[in-house]
Amino acid sequence: MIIDIIAGARPNFIKIAPIIKAIEQSAQDGKNISYRLVHTGQHYDKNMSGSFFEELEIPTPTVNFDAGSGTQAEQTGAIMFGYEKLLLNKKSDLCLVVGDVTSTMACAIVARKTQIPVAHVEAGIRSNDWSMPEEINRIVTDSITNYFFTTTISASNNLRKQGVSSKQIHFVGNVMIDTLNRLRGQFIQPQIWRDAALTKQNYILLTLHRPANVDQEFLLRDYINEILKSSNGLPVIFPVHPRTSKILKKLNIVSPQLYITEPLSYLEFNYLAENAKVVITDSGGITEETTVMKVPCITLRNNTERPETVEIGTNELIGTNPNKLKGYLDKVFKNKWKEGSIPEKWDGNAARRIVDILLKIKYN
Ligand code: UD1
Repeated sequence: MIIDIIAGARPNFIKIAPIIKAIEQSAQDGKNISYRLVHTGQHYDKNMSGSFFEELEIPTPTVNFDAGSGTQAEQTGAIMFGYEKLLLNKKSDLCLVVGDVTSTMACAIVARKTQIPVAHVEAGIRSNDWSMPEEINRIVTDSITNYFFTTTISASNNLRKQGVSSKQIHFVGNVMIDTLNRLRGQFIQPQIWRDAALTKQNYILLTLHRPANVDQEFLLRDYINEILKSSNGLPVIFPVHPRTSKILKKLNIVSPQLYITEPLSYLEFNYLAENAKVVITDSGGITEETTVMKVPCITLRNNTERPETVEIGTNELIGTNPNKLKGYLDKVFKNKWKEGSIPEKWDGNAARRIVDILLKIKYN
């Protein structure tokens, strides 16, 4: 049985690493399972892609479509074209996609049109916010998926509400947490730790990359100014995604408290996340990681497709009004933040569960 594992953007790499390890383990145990690693090239910089392959010990991809940057349609088209060519040359038995990025949706469509079943890892989560490209990717992908692997019971329920049969839904837990648990003892102190003379629980970690937050200069400027004003004098460490970087350069904000860095590697970023007083973000994946590491997290969005990080974990969704930040940051500084607990099956064994199910499928 040959499985195509699709990865294109930074969060995908974190999710496929444990699945590949579990497949390799099964193959070593004599099971009939192998894979082709398909890199779409949606992310291509060393610090958005290469460093993740090295640190997470992901093998060299079988193919790379080098789809690169572009509009949503340009990216989707380039990825679909690349994957179709691969499948026309040699079919696989299953296409496994993870998450909600453009590569996820593009390859799922090509697979189904080539009569190859699709497995979606992290299926069923919904923000109900149609302005996000990721929500469209999720809905399109789940509308053509055959095997749904979910991180939470609420994601499984979302799928049932949309008419997916319970037989197709497998609640397996969270592969992002498989990676986190495996590497937690190996996080690496980044250079910025020394440059900014950081100490544990004495800085704020900031990440922002959603178009809704960073494509409007005034909003990005107001967020940063408000965080600096309400930061209780702590340094603010801001590893900047390439999308944000373009806009940030125009703003030219200078403050002795603000430390702007390139995107960090997985092990470096999570070193900073684990030891931060608070993380402020608009990422979804980071809210899952901070929940497991029990670090206070403030999300600058109006909705989340990961409600458990708020209901069970350490995350608070505060909307997109910068004026709201002060009240929440004060709560952190007064040590009144909720402690949170870890959602069911976020235990480091999700990939194993997925591969055990994949082994039972009867492929044509
Ligand atoms: C994508 C995902 C988003 C995910 C994020 C993580 C979609 C729709 N969005 O958003 O869900 O949270 O990845 O990082 O798939 N760029 C580089 N180098 C790179 C990659 C990108 O310079 O290696 C720049 C390019 O100018 C590009 C821009 O970043 O145009 C945005 O990249 P893109 O892949 O379109 O979306 P992201 O914002 O990264």
